[in-house]
Amino acid sequence: MNTFRAFRLHAAAEGAQGRLEDLRIEDLSEGQVLIKVCYSSINYKDALASKGLNGIVQGFPRIGGIDLTGVVEQSCDPRWTPGDEVIVHGYGIGVQTDGGHAHYARVQADHVLALPDGLDLKDAATFGVAGYTAALSQYCMELNGLAPLMGPVIVTGATGGAGSLAIAMLSASGYEVTAMSGKAQESAYLRGLGAHAVIGRQAFGERPKPLLKAQWAGAVDSVGGETLAWLTRTMLPEGVIAAFGNAGGMQLDTTVLPFILRGVKLLGINGNSLMPLRETVWKRIAAVARSCHLELVRNEIGLDELPAWLDRTLAGQVRGRAVICMQ
Ligand SMILES: NC(=O)c1ccc[n+]([C@@H]2O[C@H](COP(=O)([O-])OP(=O)(O)OC[C@H]3O[C@@H](n4cnc5c(N)ncnc54)[C@H](OP(=O)(O)O)[C@@H]3O)[C@@H](O)[C@H]2O)c1
Repeated sequence: MNTFRAFRLHAAAEGAQGRLEDLRIEDLSEGQVLIKVCYSSINYKDALASKGLNGIVQGFPRIGGIDLTGVVEQSCDPRWTPGDEVIVHGYGIGVQTDGGHAHYARVQADHVLALPDGLDLKDAATFGVAGYTAALSQYCMELNGLAPLMGPVIVTGATGGAGSLAIAMLSASGYEVTAMSGKAQESAYLRGLGAHAVIGRQAFGERPKPLLKAQWAGAVDSVGGETLAWLTRTMLPEGVIAAFGNAGGMQLDTTVLPFILRGVKLLGINGNSLMPLRETVWKRIAAVARSCHLELVRNEIGLDELPAWLDRTLAGQVRGRAVICMQ
């Protein structure tokens, strides 16, 4: 193979600009393992990175894509052999080193995870960073006492990638899930994923009371800002919030009262976990994947369609996950 296709970001006057290019293996950032990428995806972070926003990309030119699944082509590390099916996400791929938006990727051997039994490469990419983070949220909430019998769970940013997969996994695990979404027209989709109820984005008011009607035993929040503040006010006693997103804002304006009067727990979730935790969480994903309505969540696209889908993701217009097929 002489050249392969990649979507590479370049520094531009207003941040960054990406274009499809023909590259050679030696153009890739260095690593011990060369992977033939089969699938990658679009996460919200990829959409921000594609425009050079929030200082996410560290060093241009850069192939974006913070997750990928594929097959090992060459390895100078004995842990990996040509033909191994693998997942790579986080560890700076797509931002500090070249990522998954290309037909090939070269990565550090320590950053490669074997595809767990029960998942194929396409389904693993459908989860990707978004689904991993949703699964990690559920795992961490359960370590902090959440169980289906404790009461309903709410998922915000519900039609997004992380939100959709959180609904599907929680519902498949026996939780009663309420979906909060800004897209009223997607109610049937959200119910198809297993949501028991669907509510619109809330009107929060200028000076909300520090404690409102207690409703949720658990909350998976991909939105942040006023939405996360509202969640703190509406959790049941001992309720657990998993917060990992900022699609709706960075500030958190709440009081200590939910924490000291209701025992609410606010967990910060960082999907860039260390490898032993990744192995645990991916096994949990594999165990539940068949019940997660992945055909409903997945929008399968080609690499040529990536620029348009990055723009749609940034505009909040995508439902579920955009999965890029490299074949
Ligand atoms: N901490 C971590 O490790 C980590 C890992 C993964 C993702 N994240 C973050 O989690 C968030 C979701 O990621 P994703 O890949 O699932 O993104 P996504 O697919 O683009 O989904 C984001 C969803 O948030 C909702 N939303 C968008 N703009 C909003 C606004 N202004 N106010 C309220 N809701 C809004 C929309 O859902 P509705 O229209 O249905 O409301 C949208 O579909 C992002 O902020 C991302 O950076 C963090």
